[in-house]
Amino acid sequence: MAEKSQAVSVGVLHGPNLNLLGRREPDIYGAEDLEAIDQRLIELARELQVELVSFQSNVEGELVDWIQAASAEFSGLLVNAAAYTHTSIAIRDALKAGGIPFVEVHLTNIQARETFRHHSYLSDLAVGLVTGFGGDSYVLALRALVGYLRRR
Ligand code: DQA
Repeated sequence: MAEKSQAVSVGVLHGPNLNLLGRREPDIYGAEDLEAIDQRLIELARELQVELVSFQSNVEGELVDWIQAASAEFSGLLVNAAAYTHTSIAIRDALKAGGIPFVEVHLTNIQARETFRHHSYLSDLAVGLVTGFGGDSYVLALRALVGYLRRR
């Protein structure tokens, strides 16, 4: 079936320490910084004709506030809650309360890392997960989310 052309808007949430990308453990997280990833997302969003806005915070409450507001503003979200993925019931609750479709994103394959990273408070609420492809995880996730939103 042909995909419907309807207005789609996507919010991108980057959690704690992702502002340090490029400088932070580059052997694990790669050399690409967050600005470069956001730029790639903006270019793809333009190609896909969707609106895209990114937000990064190191503060759990700010992420919760952003999710609460985002639920009324966007059709869907890309969420890399970083370390809060593994700890934050508050972020889970905000995503659940908003009821907005989201894709969980990770630069690294969290299942191949320390066991404390294997559990995610978010995965069972997500439309899907993209994990392990560095900055490409976000790009792949954006394509997947937009396809999902347009097929709904
Ligand atoms: C991460 C994985 C998390 O375990 C970690 O705490 C991060 C980044 C990733 O994108 O691979 O900060 O979400």
